[in-house]
Amino acid sequence: MSQVEEIDEHGYANSQALFGGSIMSPVRDPYGVYARLRTERPVVAMKGWMDPSHMITRYDDVVAGLKDAETFSARGNARGIGLVIGRTILEMEGAEHVRHRRIVTPAFSPRTLRSSVETQIHEITHELIDRFVHEGRADLVPQFTFTFPLRVLARIMGLPISDFEEFHHWALDLISVAQDPGKGFEAAQKIVDYLRPILEERRNDSRDDLLSVLVHAEVDGDRLTEEEVLGFLRLLLPAGAETTYRLTGSILYALLTHPEQRAELEADPALIDDVIEETLRWESPVQIVSREATRDVELHGTVIPAGELAVFAIGSANRDERRFPNPDRFDFRRENKSDHVAFGFGEHFCLGSHLARMEAKIAVATLLDRLPNLRLDPASTCGVVGVAFRSPDELPVLFG
Ligand code: HEM
Repeated sequence: MSQVEEIDEHGYANSQALFGGSIMSPVRDPYGVYARLRTERPVVAMKGWMDPSHMITRYDDVVAGLKDAETFSARGNARGIGLVIGRTILEMEGAEHVRHRRIVTPAFSPRTLRSSVETQIHEITHELIDRFVHEGRADLVPQFTFTFPLRVLARIMGLPISDFEEFHHWALDLISVAQDPGKGFEAAQKIVDYLRPILEERRNDSRDDLLSVLVHAEVDGDRLTEEEVLGFLRLLLPAGAETTYRLTGSILYALLTHPEQRAELEADPALIDDVIEETLRWESPVQIVSREATRDVELHGTVIPAGELAVFAIGSANRDERRFPNPDRFDFRRENKSDHVAFGFGEHFCLGSHLARMEAKIAVATLLDRLPNLRLDPASTCGVVGVAFRSPDELPVLFG
């Protein structure tokens, strides 16, 4: 019998009791729960979020499950974010998924990014820092990390910068759909109404931006329909903005709370890539991905029934002591840190991983360079929080 106390007589764990809050609550440390689950119930039936579901917490099982698209189908994503953003590559399978990925992948390749957006990312970073650099203090979450990736996305898409505030507002409502579904649906519609005429313009007058690429892209004579383009753009907002801001915040938090490792980085700035990979492992911005079981699957003596959601806890996998010794320690010198699954695994591996890494690298390097003696405000009690997504809720800092 399991030692996990929150399991009821039917074998279900109550997720709220287990994690001490809902999927979106600012839980400080879910990792103790994950460690217990990995040891005592590596596959646990859960009620409370995305009912009913089975959560899988060990690294090897997460990798094997995400690799096995026949048994664990991505159509499970249709029951979450797909309800609001519509049908997108996130929930597609097989040939349809391959066709869509081939159309959109070139726009996010390292080569395209280097030639088209690297300079703009530098510009946006400096513009944001210019606003507070003379004040000696800032809260880097609202003043920097939160708005930065969406500004980059707006530039990549080719949206007029004058519309940014309104666009940001809708994107935030879309992202907060779990707390306020009405607002989320309304925002999704407003984004479509806003983008439709711009897409029409790009169809007639192509420019050097993602909207033009998407309306004209062809693979084997095949083009995306307007609905497909709009769905993809709606996916990019949460996929690209909600995640990268969290990574940037967690890297800064890791460095500000590990002064020895920060000193090593400052002595050798090329180590930034290692810092980014270790942060992705240590505080994965996206903690879970979902799939639907296509047949009854037995794993560690527990049956996941066909049709039920399998929740792959990538945040737990990245702290699995079977894979990463002393997993709770942030250590960018760790050898196998890049084995993390923070960008998922298999066919749906994150399309924006190169962009996310590029943004985080430029942002962190520029902040450390321009804000001398950067330190957390000693009065602050901030930390990394969250269950489904994780990042610092605030980063009050002093500098100069
Ligand atoms: C640190 C930042 C990011 C993290 C941690 C992250 C994480 C993930 C994860 C875990 C998945 C897999 C979902 C699944 O298997 O169901 C995914 C997929 C995806 N991500 Fe990211 N992501 C990040 C940044 C971005 C950015 C910047 C973009 C684009 C602008 C992006 C676009 C996408 C897209 C389009 C998919 C769907 C791919 C597919 O279904 O084939 N992501 N991401």
